[in-house]
This record gives sequence, structure tokens and C-alpha cells, in this order.
Amino acid sequence: STASDFVVVANRLPVDRVTNPDGTQGFRRSPGGLVTALEPVMAASEGAWVGWHGGVDEELDSFDKDGIHLVPVPLSEDDLELYYEGFSNSTLWPLYHDVIVPPSYHRTWWDRYKKINQRFADAVLRIAAPNATVWVHDYQLQLVPRLLRLARPDLKIGFFLHIPFPAASLFSQLPWRKQILQGLAGADLVGFQRETDASNFLRCLRRFTDYQTKGREATPSLENDLQNICRADAHPISIDYEQIQRLSRDPQIIARAAQIRHELGNPKTIMLGVDRLDYTKGIRHRLKAYGELLADEQLQAGEVCLIQVASPSRENVGTYIELRDQVELMVGQITGQHDTLSHTTLRYLHHSYPLREMISLYLAADVLLVTALRDGMNLVAKEYVAAHQDGRGVLVLSEFTGAADQLTQSVLVNPHDIDGMKVKIMEAVNMDETEQAKRMKRMNHHLKEFDVAGWSDRFLSELAEINSKSAPAK
Ligand code: G6P
Repeated sequence: STASDFVVVANRLPVDRVTNPDGTQGFRRSPGGLVTALEPVMAASEGAWVGWHGGVDEELDSFDKDGIHLVPVPLSEDDLELYYEGFSNSTLWPLYHDVIVPPSYHRTWWDRYKKINQRFADAVLRIAAPNATVWVHDYQLQLVPRLLRLARPDLKIGFFLHIPFPAASLFSQLPWRKQILQGLAGADLVGFQRETDASNFLRCLRRFTDYQTKGREATPSLENDLQNICRADAHPISIDYEQIQRLSRDPQIIARAAQIRHELGNPKTIMLGVDRLDYTKGIRHRLKAYGELLADEQLQAGEVCLIQVASPSRENVGTYIELRDQVELMVGQITGQHDTLSHTTLRYLHHSYPLREMISLYLAADVLLVTALRDGMNLVAKEYVAAHQDGRGVLVLSEFTGAADQLTQSVLVNPHDIDGMKVKIMEAVNMDETEQAKRMKRMNHHLKEFDVAGWSDRFLSELAEINSKSAPAK
């Protein structure tokens, strides 16, 4: 295969598996914002994307899909258990989300994480052209920047962390904190969602490694086997604003929104929650507040419906299995207590839906509830706002999301404070239409200016401007 000047590396390839009409297996491009943002760069530079294809124990050749060269990385059942479910999602994920559940530290998981990071790095090394730019994504691949730099000092290496970077007091728990920091510091530029994440990272580098920092730059000591300077900066990710806006004006999607409201019996108020079924999302806190508002009769059972879309996620991980049980118990308690034969107060949907259906749901909803206990960004909040070109709708948004830094006209809540959240939800339900429109307009203004294409442009131009002072590995 030909060498690429631009390589994206992420745990997943931007494709979903589909069964073709003739019964054969194929791939369809997944609707993610990341791939949309990178498409122009990909097309202009013989771009390639390295990632896992979603199969178990399955070796696949590289293939082209919609102009992108896809390089599948195989994972075995053991790899999934130790690297994906284990170290990535039972060590790093809870640690980086402020230990909402306790992280587990297992040496066998760490060993496999190192091995799989090397496998991803090797796949990049096979296809990266001389002086290529490589952009590595997210917590599953934090060792890849250093592995690439050791083998190929000519590469420009960027890394973006989609999730929060924790405070030093929490990060210090990690037995392999030094290796993870050194892994990231192999990059020329490490991007984060928030300023706080970037400064947490720099503080950890100072405390746990031989790097000195000055402003946003970290420099290794002369004894370090890498000599590149690493920059850390905030680059909050966003959505494909044009696309969401266009879909929200599609007559079919608008008609579907009306149909959804009708099918629910045209309640006075429809509230919506959309999350992966994950303990970071604060779904139980949201249901607690909602159930109490119904019990207090601040919300009238016959006049309100909450649609909770909870898409299946990481279903083999114990903490996710427990969360599902807890959420489904609460759903049963609320509906059992407040529903009648003719009306439901809560529609719980353990599915994922295509983007078009999501936009219809956003349009049908008077209030969106985003009550995450910790979230790197939360693009659902941004999509909801972009879908409301009609100036209707209220966003209730947790302070603990990256999006709260930008969507300042939302109704901000602390999801741990159930009483406070109940007050804010009622404020949202009762907000008058002029105020709704004013807030929606200001937030739309921001999203239009800072869309996902701007995000990748800004990250990649900052990366391009960095004068790489990397010396070959000793
Ligand atoms: C978060 C992470 C992504 C991850 C996604 C879905 O957004 O930042 O890296 O791909 O969740 O999780 P999954 O484990 O299904 O890939």
C-alpha cells in the first residue's frame, strides 16, 4: 500500500459493520463528527485511518471507504478483555472521570495495554510517509506518541484526549503514571477539551517525570531518551454545525418530531435525555430528581413525559452491568408509580438511533437534560442547541461537562445537588419563549463560529507551526 502524509489513529475505525441486502458483510461510514471534520484533510493528503474494525479475532486487509484509506488493527478476545474492557475502560476511564467508580489496577491489564499500543504504533509505522503528520486520539492509545517518536523522529505527532485529564491528586494513584505521561509527551502537541485538563497534565508532568514546564511547553531533562518539546493546549471539540442545522430544517424530520409528540399523547412538556448508558452521565441523579418532581406534584404526571435514550455501551464491564440494573429498577419505580393506562411519564429506550431520528427527538423535546457527573465535552448538548434554529427549547447542563465552558446560556446544574437540580429543571420547564429564544440564539452564534472543522483546523495548524526539535533516539 502507498505511504500516507496524514495518519489518524483511534481505537475504532470510523465505520460500522452492516449486512448487505445480499447477505454479505460490509462496512458503512459511522456518523461521527470526527470523521466528518477530518475528511477534507484526508482527501487532500492521501490520508489513512488506523483503528480496530469492531470484529473479534479477525484479520482484515486495508480497504478504502468513501475516499479514506482504512487500516484495521485486529483484537483478540483476550485483547478486548485486558486492553479494552480492562485497562482502558476499568482503569483509565473511571480514573480520568474523577473516580466516580473505583478504578482497578491490574498488572496483566497494563501489560496488554502496552502490547496493543505497540501494535497500533507498528500499523502506523508501516504506512506513514517521511515527515508525515500523525494524529493519535484518546485514552486507549496514550503510549503511541512516544512509541512513534522513538522509531521515527521525522514524524509530526499530535495527540487529542477526548475525555478529561484528572487532577494530580487522583492521577497519582496510577501505578504506571510515569509511563503514561512519558507516552503522551512523545507528541509535539497534546490537545485537551478544557484549560483545566491541559494544566492538570502539565502539573502531573512536573511532579512525576523529569520534564520542566514553562507556560504551555514541557521540556525533558538531558537524560531523557526523547528530546522533543511537548506543548499542551485546550482545543474544545465541537459538532458539524451545518449538517445539524440542515437536518433540523428537513420537512421529514420536522414531521417526525410532530409525530413523536403526537404518539406520546401531546403532553404539555417533553423532556429528553440522550446518553451512552454510562455511570459518568448522571442518569440515576436525573431520574431521582424527575421522580421526586412527580411525587411532589411540581410536575403533573398527565402533562409530562421524559424520553430517556440510553444507548448500550461496554456491556461486558461489571460496573456497566450494575448501572443498567440500577437504572432499570428506577425506571420501573417511576413508571409503576406515576403511569396510567393512557399515559406514560417515562419512555426508557435502551437502543441507539440514527442521526436523523435523534434530530427529530431534539426537535420534539422542550427541555434537554444533560446531568453528567463528569464529561470531557458532551456533544449531545451542542447538537440539541444546533437543532433548535426555531429558538425553542431549554438546555439543562451539568457544570461538570466541557460543554459548560462554552454553552454559558444554558441552565447550569450541579447533578449531585438533587434539590438544586429540581429547582433548575422547573425553571427550564417554565421558561418563557422570549427568554428561550434569546439563549438559543446566543449559543447558536457560538456553535456556528466554533464548529468541528474549525476544531481540527486549529489543532492541525498549531501542530504544523511547531518547530520540531526532536533528536533521534539514543
Ligand atoms: C467516548 C470515548 C471514545 C469512545 C466512545 C464510545 O466518547 O472518548 O473514545 O470511542 O466513548 O465508547 P466505546 O468504548 O464504545 O468505543
